[in-house]
Amino acid sequence: CGIVGYIGYREAWPIVLKGLKRLEYRGYDSAGIALMNNSGDHIYKKVGKVAALEEFAEDKDKSGTIAMGHTRWATHGVPSDRNSHPHTSNDGQLSIIHNGIIENYATLKEELLGRGHEFKSDTDTEVLIHLIEEIQKIEQIDLLEAVRLALHEVSGAYAIVIMDKAYPDRLIAARKGSPMVIGVGKGEYFIASDATPIIEYTKNVIYLNDNEIALVTKDDLLVKHLDNVVQTPLIQELELKLEMLEKGGFDHFMLKEIYEQPRSIRDCMRGRIYPEEGKVQLGGIKEFVEKLKNIDRIIIVACGTSWHAGLVGEYLIEEYARIPVEVEYASEFRYRNPIITEKDVVIAISQSGETADTMAAIEMAKERGATIFGICNVAGASIPRLSHAGVYTHAGPEIGVASTKAFTAQVTVLTLMAFYMAQQKGTITQSKLISLLTELDNIPDKIQTALESNDIIKEVAAQIKDSRNCLFLGRGSGFPVALEGALKLKEISYIHAEGYPAAEMKHGPIALIDEEMPVVFIATQNSSYEKVISNIQEVKARKGKVIAIVTQGDTEVKKMADYCIEIPDSDEAFLPLLATIPLQLLSYHIAVMRGCNVDQPRNLAKSVTVE
Ligand code: G6P
Repeated sequence: CGIVGYIGYREAWPIVLKGLKRLEYRGYDSAGIALMNNSGDHIYKKVGKVAALEEFAEDKDKSGTIAMGHTRWATHGVPSDRNSHPHTSNDGQLSIIHNGIIENYATLKEELLGRGHEFKSDTDTEVLIHLIEEIQKIEQIDLLEAVRLALHEVSGAYAIVIMDKAYPDRLIAARKGSPMVIGVGKGEYFIASDATPIIEYTKNVIYLNDNEIALVTKDDLLVKHLDNVVQTPLIQELELKLEMLEKGGFDHFMLKEIYEQPRSIRDCMRGRIYPEEGKVQLGGIKEFVEKLKNIDRIIIVACGTSWHAGLVGEYLIEEYARIPVEVEYASEFRYRNPIITEKDVVIAISQSGETADTMAAIEMAKERGATIFGICNVAGASIPRLSHAGVYTHAGPEIGVASTKAFTAQVTVLTLMAFYMAQQKGTITQSKLISLLTELDNIPDKIQTALESNDIIKEVAAQIKDSRNCLFLGRGSGFPVALEGALKLKEISYIHAEGYPAAEMKHGPIALIDEEMPVVFIATQNSSYEKVISNIQEVKARKGKVIAIVTQGDTEVKKMADYCIEIPDSDEAFLPLLATIPLQLLSYHIAVMRGCNVDQPRNLAKSVTVE
């Protein structure tokens, strides 16, 4: 979900509405805005996109210099007008917007029902605002104190903003486990779940910490810890630029982000590789050098696409640095009572740096003494702040919900880490490292070449766009690439797709193959080339339609496959970076041809701050 708040001297509605549009990638099943002006408070909410809210409120009173808005990704209660935020207290005096989940809402709700509260929605959020109202009434205290006390009674995650009709000059904000940024202007403040709605107005921001609560007026900001101690907030300068948040001539953010990859990977490597000297420099990892030399294993935790990057990392780190790696879904790891010791290093990978399961996995591993290393794309997000050390992927803001450039940047960082650790451990020769780094330096150009296959990919897309299923197969590090290819396709085109190790196909998926079934092979010339060819034969023998990602100039696979898409030749280490590109484009074109909303696929959210 996304949150935006404004208090200051300008008209608040346009600022909040625009902010919601910028945040829409975080959730988009409903939207709402509450504002206050001379005639009191006004709440407008509507199921659907922010545009539906805009239309709904067209002829309504939207004046005023204080407002807060929300885009929702439903957790408790179906998407509907009544379940949209803001929600109000029993007497309608207070309103709230909320990201996250109040886990104990059912018990709280029961108590409040007993005390005569009536609820207008099915949400956990409404329970929280009723609770605050109740505490304020019983204790006869001001709202800030009532919010503070109420937050002691809830478990779960939240980022909230609250408005009080009686005080049209203030907003109250608080966070725990869900991100919140406060933009600091002159005579105005902005509140948002990430910096994207704020950047147009100010570069000065404060990242609210967990368990902090803020009282915001247009000229003043008071931040307190939930234990009532006043905090001195740290103002930081944003590096984000506005043009990074626009489509820049592309039809979709996803396409723009796919085409950005030569640049984003360069940015990711900048200052980190020195091919002539055979040197990798990774600021964040330095303090681990001694530890890394002696560790028994690395555990990688992540979700979704970031988990796939982790699988690529496993291949690379084991191959080059000879350190055993386990890759875990954060959501499973955190509840599994895993064996973790002080000797373990846990690498957490997350584009957003806010994924609830990944954060919980980090916290658990930290409690058990592990050292946490974060790989994240969003500066200042929660995961980098929870980690002992880490590196940023520097891919720039990723707006398309389906991850593309963030994935390749994560893979780039893991590649650099594998090389770095190998160098420190002495498991790689200097000459090999020089040749690998020289080649890595060429990868952005080779990605550019891979992008030039766009027209062919579009033709292939047209051929398979009506399929109901699709299989993606690869071996070695081509396997996680296959998984990622399948995930992209199902995310944005709603075609059922599965990624499989090519050799495993015969243990199940082969039963699905007939002339209707497209099978995408990662069939580049590397150590498993011959074996993949045998797997292609197996599919052909059952009349499957083969689409193969091949090395430029390949002749063998071309004889068998129905369609071939070429990528430039390179060292096997960089196969995932190159082979991913055509798969992203393939999914993109199929989704466009099927009329799907590429940037905001149904039911998905960019940043999953609930478990
Ligand atoms: C969501 C997104 C995915 C992403 C996953 C993990 O499901 O839709 O694209 O891979 O979360 O997110 P993270 O920000 O932790 O990488």
